[in-house]
Amino acid sequence: MTSETPDHDLIPMPVRTGGPHRGGFPLDHRTTLSAAPGTETTERWLRTTLGAAFALPLRTPVDGDDAPGIRLRLDGTLAPEAYRLDVLADRAVEITGGGPAGVFWGAQTLRQLLGPEAFRKAPTRNGPPVALAARTIEDAPRFGWRGLLLDVSRHFMPKDDVLRYLDLLAAHKLNVLHLHLTDDQGWRIEIERHPRLTGVGARRARTKWGHRASPLWTETPHGGFYTHDDIREIVAYAADRHVTVVPEIDLPGHAQAAIAAYPELGNADVVDTAALTVWDTWGVNPNVLAPTEAVLRFYEGVFEEVLDLFPSPFVHVGGDECPKDQWEASPAAQARIHELGLADEDELQSWFIRHFDRWLAARGRRLIGWDEILEGGLAEGAAVSSWRGYAGGIAAAEAGHDVVMCPEQHVYLDHRQAPGEDEPVPIGYVRTLEDVYRFEPVPPGLAPEAAAHVLGTQANVWTEVMENRSRVDYQVFPRLAAFAEVAWSALPAPEARDHADFERRMRAHYRRLDALGVDYRPPTGPRPWQRRPGVLGRPLEGAPPNV
Ligand code: ACM
Repeated sequence: MTSETPDHDLIPMPVRTGGPHRGGFPLDHRTTLSAAPGTETTERWLRTTLGAAFALPLRTPVDGDDAPGIRLRLDGTLAPEAYRLDVLADRAVEITGGGPAGVFWGAQTLRQLLGPEAFRKAPTRNGPPVALAARTIEDAPRFGWRGLLLDVSRHFMPKDDVLRYLDLLAAHKLNVLHLHLTDDQGWRIEIERHPRLTGVGARRARTKWGHRASPLWTETPHGGFYTHDDIREIVAYAADRHVTVVPEIDLPGHAQAAIAAYPELGNADVVDTAALTVWDTWGVNPNVLAPTEAVLRFYEGVFEEVLDLFPSPFVHVGGDECPKDQWEASPAAQARIHELGLADEDELQSWFIRHFDRWLAARGRRLIGWDEILEGGLAEGAAVSSWRGYAGGIAAAEAGHDVVMCPEQHVYLDHRQAPGEDEPVPIGYVRTLEDVYRFEPVPPGLAPEAAAHVLGTQANVWTEVMENRSRVDYQVFPRLAAFAEVAWSALPAPEARDHADFERRMRAHYRRLDALGVDYRPPTGPRPWQRRPGVLGRPLEGAPPNV
């Protein structure tokens, strides 16, 4: 056996560990894999993942076969995402989950116990790969919503990279991928009944390079979109990893790509919408949807296709950063406010959101939107993604609405991860690895009834300054490891968290990320190729702190 595996470097940290006890379990070519009904996703995942990493057959045992093996089973007395992992010396590795997801999270723990080689796609050395020390682990997540938002609009993320991110989420026991599919700078999902959304809206002619105040541009077109089959593949791949993909179609703001494709969606009485193109710079865009029945019908058509593709109980409708200037100036919008008996433009925004709240509810889905949807009155069934801090989430939870906490001050991973100007694009709040480790999703003082409405937490990655996968990796890692522990593990209050122990465990985790080929930020700062030359990423004189 080539190594005794450590039992104390797991991330996220499990609830309870026992052992190591005497003896161990050798994983080798004789090891069998048996899966009780309901655990097939994990069986498949273990064969493809550990089977590839260690070149093992992991054959299914035949009757009477008592070769040592990995056994997967369900125990309905455990919570659906809870699991128990027993390594029994020389006999078996038993993973018992409350539901299929619990078994899968147990398998993720098993992979970490097997050392960094378990994160490769082929073996790097010969011989029996590894032995596990006998032990017991009992574990369950703190939150049911443990998410990452990927903004695939500002920079398109090719499908294979999305699949890779699903693997990275699963490796950290995260279970929600929020896909920000539409924005001013690009529409990224095929909608068959409105082909110009991708025909026109998925491509922009050029792109602001780096910070929004940068004077530089990339003068090459940028684009891409997912076909229906691409989405089906992403959703199925996610489901196999017990990850829910929450689609976001942003309205009534962040809509310039859609308006460029279909000018009648915009406020054509105050702006020449036919002259609009897919936006080529960053910031909050004034071109918002017109409050007409035709626009509602258009977006219902969009959502019909979205619902066919995404089984997620929640559908995100955006609702953030919708400037009201065009509605204030537009005689048509003003007439609409009057006709609907609304007080002002804020209520017009609520009118949009309430419409889709009812429309989604009638189809058995739930609406979730950014915290601006509180302005002008929160729709009845709406859940809130609290991004401008905790306040929106607190107000929504106290009013009995479900909340996902993703405050930009803490978990916006596009923001710089070290002070100073050495980060590739040093924008936003400084949030170090330790800061993220000390992030607390439930604000102190929130009454228990309101706190029960905090479904969980989410880290958001906006990609204005991340034009490829390496740039995304750099911003996301290692901070996603700290975030995963916050979302999964029952950590004490922020000041009482054992950050030194987390750092110690991170030493093993960096080796896992190396094996996975993640281009993370090393503790010593950016590697030479992770820097940006010259002025490109530097904040310019007078630039606001956030893009
Ligand atoms: C957001 O960051 N505008 C949700």
